This record gives sequence, C-alpha cells and structure tokens, in this order.
Amino acid sequence: MRTRKRFIAANWKMNPAPAGFDAKDSPYRTHADCDVVVFPMTSDLQKVRTAELLFGSQGARPERSGAFTGDESMAAMKDAGCRYVLCGHSERRRVHAETNEFVMEQVIAALELGLHPVLCIGETVEERKAGKTHDVLKKQLHGLPESEQIVIAYEPVWSIGSGTAATPDEAADAHAFIRNQSKNANVRILYGGSVDDNNAASFLAKEDIDGLLVGGASLKPAVFGAIVAAARA
Ligand code: PGA
Repeated sequence: MRTRKRFIAANWKMNPAPAGFDAKDSPYRTHADCDVVVFPMTSDLQKVRTAELLFGSQGARPERSGAFTGDESMAAMKDAGCRYVLCGHSERRRVHAETNEFVMEQVIAALELGLHPVLCIGETVEERKAGKTHDVLKKQLHGLPESEQIVIAYEPVWSIGSGTAATPDEAADAHAFIRNQSKNANVRILYGGSVDDNNAASFLAKEDIDGLLVGGASLKPAVFGAIVAAARA
C-alpha cells in the first residue's frame, strides 16, 4: 500500500491541447488512485474545464490585481477553475527572471486561495558540476510553509526538454534531500525532465518519487497514456 497518492502532470507549455484531450477515454482524465493534472495555455483553460479534466495554471502572479500587462493573477486562475498552479517552473525563472523570493510569494498566495501550488525547483548543469545541487535546492525551498496542499517538483534544469533525463539514482538522491528539508514528511515530490514512456517506471520505482511532471511527452496522447499506466501499475 502506498502512503502517497501518485501524481502525473502534463505540462503542455505554449502548445495547443493535444487532439482527443476531451474524449471519454482520454489519457488526460484523472483517476481515483492517481491524480492526473493538465496544465494548458491560459487560453485553453475553459476547454479543459468543459471536458471535466483536473487542471491547473502554468503560472500566475501573487497580487490580486494591478499594472502587470500580459500577466494573470492567482485569483483569476482560481476563478477559471484551476485547482493547481505551477510556481517557479525553470522556464519562468529563466525567461521571466522569477526569483526564489517571488516564487515563494506565489506559493503563499496560492495557498491563501486554496489552490495547490506545485513548486518547481532544480539545479543548473554548472551547479551540479560544482557539487552545489543540495545548496541550490535548500535555497529554493527556503520559507516554504507547512501545508498538505503543496506539491514539489524536482526538475533539474539541464534535463528539461533536453532528452537527457537524470538517472533514477540522481533523482532519488535529490528527492530524499527535499523530503528531509520539508516540514511535511508526506509531501508529494514529482520528478520532471525528459520523462517518457521508456523511463517513467524506473523513476516511479524509487521510494521518494511520487509522480512525474511531463512536458514534451505529454503532448503525445499514447505516450502520456503509457506514463499514466506505469504510475497506476
Ligand atoms: P520535458 O519538460 O518533459 O519536455 O523535459 C518537463 C517540464 O518542463 O516540466
């Protein structure tokens, strides 16, 4: 018996919802024994809502409103029906210069609204080579509140979209460290970075890996379906 429910996330990034996402037997539907959560573009939120998928936002600002052209607020994402929100995805940190402090403000704002933040953390290749992985993760976790609503995603920056996933042992080491740092020993921790149907099971076999955050492979319904099947096996 697993103590923590499995969690498989589909991060569609800036891509349209894959064909058939709304079918009755769509691989993007959630299950009683495994949360399946999709993260579409903001313009597709209502489509996935109508299709009755479990879904979240790819990111939002903590302020309720204000002069932030082109951005979305956490509150608006909640109104749009989101249950989850990605906070601090490495592409947001890189392209939009989101800092650790700002990402933690997002986590807190999400919690206050009753959303489930999915806090994304992970080291760059330079940081790993310099032996700084644990230090970086510790800084990215600084100030994390204690809440059962929180999900953490360990995504080494060098593995995202690169085709070079971490090894299951590298991921397991980081996950054990993250669990140890977390105030909630039962926090769900996902691995993300070049996950596909060939490597999903090897990550899920590790004690501290509770699920997967899938980017590129989540756009291929058959591949994503195989990943969800691996999580439910
Ligand atoms: P990837 O992306 O699976 O394409 O590496 C993962 C992510 O960005 O969350």
